[in-house]
Amino acid sequence: MKIAILGYGVVGSGAYEVLKNYGHQVKRVLDIRPHDELGEVLTSNYDDILNDKEIGVCAEAIGGLEPAHTFVVKALKAGKHVVSSNKHLICEYYDELHALAKENNVTIRFTSSVGGGIPWLYNLKRAVRCDNITKIMGIMNGTTNFILDAMITDCRDFDEVLKEAQALGYAEANPSADIDGLDVARKAAISSSIAFNTIIKEENVSVFSLRNVTKSDIDFILKSGKTLRYMGFGIKNKDSVSCFVEPVILPKDALEANVNKNFNMISLFGDSVGRLSFFGQGAGKYPTGNALAQDVLDIVNGDYKLCCSFGDVTVDNSRATRDYYLRTSVKLDNKAEYEANGNYYYFIKGNSVSQMHQLVNSIKEKDPAVFCAGIEG
Ligand code: HSE
Repeated sequence: MKIAILGYGVVGSGAYEVLKNYGHQVKRVLDIRPHDELGEVLTSNYDDILNDKEIGVCAEAIGGLEPAHTFVVKALKAGKHVVSSNKHLICEYYDELHALAKENNVTIRFTSSVGGGIPWLYNLKRAVRCDNITKIMGIMNGTTNFILDAMITDCRDFDEVLKEAQALGYAEANPSADIDGLDVARKAAISSSIAFNTIIKEENVSVFSLRNVTKSDIDFILKSGKTLRYMGFGIKNKDSVSCFVEPVILPKDALEANVNKNFNMISLFGDSVGRLSFFGQGAGKYPTGNALAQDVLDIVNGDYKLCCSFGDVTVDNSRATRDYYLRTSVKLDNKAEYEANGNYYYFIKGNSVSQMHQLVNSIKEKDPAVFCAGIEG
């Protein structure tokens, strides 16, 4: 079975090099830009790939919805297996792409769409085969982890560290996707869809942004003996699932508290296997290219049976109850732990995720700089 790569940007070129360096030939690469080093392998005409019967697997690394969606649909309909690193595409069209793959007796794999180089989704799918997954959680965004780590270890300001993360190429083109949580929401939705055999869309995920975190929040949290990370969660309830993204206050000895720089760490909790945690590079040319290449090679080697089934499980964020930290200039009925520079620092006990979102939304009108974090452990 021959391989095609769609898109020769950061991830596509990373996968190409990884495959080539380890003796696996890529027959065609689709890209509209010139890449002299690819010679005859390069084409800008997708029909060259679609009509090539030898090509059995297309690795999509174009990113975004279009033309990636059209190309992937055409590949599946043409009976070609598809591998993708594109979390936006997978999250948006999860059900359609799985149904098309099933109809055409091929598979769709997307390990590199969550956690970059970490074989998280691959192992989550394996875990689901013979375990009851009760929770997934993790640091799924390198940019925000880089920002928090630098704010905590070097006492730096949010804006300054964000600029550095962008210069290092960690941040999305629009950094709002990182710091306001959309990137993690998509990754949590894809992970939860697999973990709980359902289909969760990004709009089902409740998201607290990291944008408003200040040095004074960090100081207050560190003084209380804890630390802060930005994480996605999927939690199984009796007959529903909770899925949310939020800054999280953790004990300093928690595994996530020791994930530094732009690294990711994602964990699953299964009734029989217990906790499994996966740590590594969540982004970048070679780590993500490597994970894309691994999915391709699994398919080439005939290992493509890890498919999903979908039950009828809904998202209900009123079922996940947590304690929260809240910093706002608005005085609430609750007793503040601390008060400084016109801000009140609260610990709010036992609210559901949706109650907390209602509260923060009502405060936002008066205090757009309000900051809220869940408390874990
Ligand atoms: N901007 C993302 C991150 C890239 O920082 O993790 C990988 O999805």
